[in-house]
Amino acid sequence: MSKILVTGGTGYIGSHTVVELQKAGYDVVIVDNLDNSSIGILEQITKITGIKPDFHQIDLCEEAKVKELISNNPDISGVIHFAAHKAVGESVQYPLKYYRNNFFSLINLLSAFTGRDVNFVFSSSCTVYGQPDKLPVTEEAPVKKAESPYGNTKQIAEEILSESAAVNANYHVISLRYFNPVGAHESALIGELPIGVPQNLVPFITQSAIGKRGAITVYGSDYNTPDGSCVRDYIHVVDLAKAHIAALKRQESGKMASNYEIFNIGTGKGSSVLEVINAFEKSTGVKLDYKIGERRAGDVEQVWGDVSKAEKELNWKAGLGLEDMMRSAWAWEKYINENPL
Ligand code: NAD
Ligand code: WQD
Repeated sequence: MSKILVTGGTGYIGSHTVVELQKAGYDVVIVDNLDNSSIGILEQITKITGIKPDFHQIDLCEEAKVKELISNNPDISGVIHFAAHKAVGESVQYPLKYYRNNFFSLINLLSAFTGRDVNFVFSSSCTVYGQPDKLPVTEEAPVKKAESPYGNTKQIAEEILSESAAVNANYHVISLRYFNPVGAHESALIGELPIGVPQNLVPFITQSAIGKRGAITVYGSDYNTPDGSCVRDYIHVVDLAKAHIAALKRQESGKMASNYEIFNIGTGKGSSVLEVINAFEKSTGVKLDYKIGERRAGDVEQVWGDVSKAEKELNWKAGLGLEDMMRSAWAWEKYINENPL
């Protein structure tokens, strides 16, 4: 089976994708500098699949180390590139940290494959759409001026990839624009590990429910949405992980329409903040303490994806719903509290 390099493979989405890759029979090599993840995740992956992944603690910004790794592994046929800084607020405060990390790592990786065939899957984001004019948003919708340096790194990274693929027939690149990934593996052995106070809704909900945080604040109830709170397309992280396998299969089949393609990866359904809170309470039986607060600066009102292109071309579709997402996130929160990594 082919060998796949997973950068950021001990991170949240990366670890779930490593599990799905191993289950699908791929040989996995992980590179991570453990900047935002724990080495203990390797043991957790091994508990799920029985296979300990080959792991290299490397900072992808170090060009020589990236080159050495890639040339020592001439059998790597694909790369799934998750490694990046991802905190929107922090990126506004430290833009250079974000531009340096997210661009240098991408450029070093691409350069290391010069002259070699590679299937490259990139973690992009629905953040590139900003507030779309039409919903559900399709891949053809215009990219809006980024609200943050983080968002800008995704927009420019997509351009770097598309321009590189245009002049390198041996680069086969797919950008996956994720909507809002939430939830955890059904084993509760891996999940999201936020450092400090979670900025994202679902980790805040689970930490509030377990008593690590106070009441949840719903950021705004006067939006032009059915219940006044913001609407997002939440996607279970295991469904998202599987979309990466589907992307690799498409690259391997030689059926790409061009050697740079973009796919929305979501459920195609929008849920409001209040609906997420209700789904959590219903699926876990745990009552949440929440209050309505002010709008959060920079939030878009509503976004959900048109995922018909992924369904048709990748033969992939999300199978899990909001309650599965909440149940698994809660099981993981309880596990990680009892078993810190
Ligand atoms: P994460 O922080 O859990 O995982 C990223 C991993 O990359 C971490 O383990 C970190 O240590 C590693 N890393 C960062 N910089 C590195 C470097 N220079 N060298 C080596 N390793 C490095 O994040 P995640 O939620 O799993 O996100 C994965 C990718 O998906 C990111 O590119 C992110 O921008 C993108 N994305 C995430 C979301 C989301 O809501 N989680 C949504 C859309 C897109
Ligand atoms: C979801 C909804 C909040 C916390 C971010 C990035 C985006 C992408 C995914 C990477 C919003 C509301 C939140 C809280 C709340 N990441 N909320 N109370 O903002 O959609 O997207 O993560 O690419 O780029 O911007 O996700 O989880 O922060 O918020 O009411 O305590 O929950 O206002 O409507 P968001 P989120």
